[in-house]
Amino acid sequence: MSFPNIRPRRLRTSPAMRRLVSETRLSPAEFVLPLFVKEGLTEPRPIASMPGVVQHSRDSLRKAAVEAVQAGVGGLMLFGVPENRDPEGSGGVDPGGILNVAIRDVIREVGDATVVMSDLCLDEFTSHGHCGVLDASGEVDNDRTLQLYGEMALAQAAAGVHVLGPSGMMDGQVGAVRAALDGAGYQDRTILAYAAKYASAFFGPFRDAVESELDGDRRTYQQDPGNLREALREVELDIAEGADMVMVKPAGAYLDVISAVAERVTVPVAAYQVSGEYAMVEAAAANGWIDRERAMMESLTAIRRAGAQITLTYWAVDAARLLRDHY
Ligand code: PBG
Repeated sequence: MSFPNIRPRRLRTSPAMRRLVSETRLSPAEFVLPLFVKEGLTEPRPIASMPGVVQHSRDSLRKAAVEAVQAGVGGLMLFGVPENRDPEGSGGVDPGGILNVAIRDVIREVGDATVVMSDLCLDEFTSHGHCGVLDASGEVDNDRTLQLYGEMALAQAAAGVHVLGPSGMMDGQVGAVRAALDGAGYQDRTILAYAAKYASAFFGPFRDAVESELDGDRRTYQQDPGNLREALREVELDIAEGADMVMVKPAGAYLDVISAVAERVTVPVAAYQVSGEYAMVEAAAANGWIDRERAMMESLTAIRRAGAQITLTYWAVDAARLLRDHY
């Protein structure tokens, strides 16, 4: 009988030893909390498929922003849910549109203490639910959409947002947004490009959150889940067009993409742990089938280990508090 002389288990003998040799440490500063605000609400309203997440009123949004900052999260990502939609998504461009109003509110409340980001996409504002406007044959009109993204960027910048997140996957969107911002004197505003965004079933609950009713799907602009090299191409293009940071989305099922991107680029890499990733764990935990906190921290650790420097997650505040109290 021979015995092993090398024993990896020695480094796992106690919590203190495991803590000492841990390769991946999380900190609240790397989390960004996505927040939804719905026009006309006076009270926050729960989102059925995302237990624990709500559509905020303007008031409750301000309070949630303060709470998140107190918990130490690194940033906030704002999404607006308008009362009315039209084919052109004009509520996104309107300075009085809910997202632009919410940006002003949040900037006034916590703008000096955190990084305020906004989703830059038309899908929350269009009646047909697509991320761009449609041409006469009902196809998404890429280049006319770029025009509108430029206008939307100016409205968001005027409202004071720090970081703009173009998420519509139109060709040339980062360049169009950069040009619009620079042309209006907003050279200081940062672009977080949703560079590699897949046509994913994991966005399901988000549609509930923003009440978007999409005819058809987004496969002519979002990427095929099987493609990795194409993601690298999207990332390269976005950086060439002026992206300051790039994002991979979703996160959990795309850790290889995060890792490949992180190896190749020198800009910060973000990942978005999307609504469906959140909902799956919450639903299983509610049934007693999974340990909620462990699954939450494990999933966030895996995203960090893969190479994301910044993680957008609906658990940002919960995870930040757990890290403060237990880790
Ligand atoms: C587009 C956008 C979407 C999400 C974030 N930005 C929806 C989509 O592209 O289909 C999804 C986020 C999530 O599922 O948590 N405005």
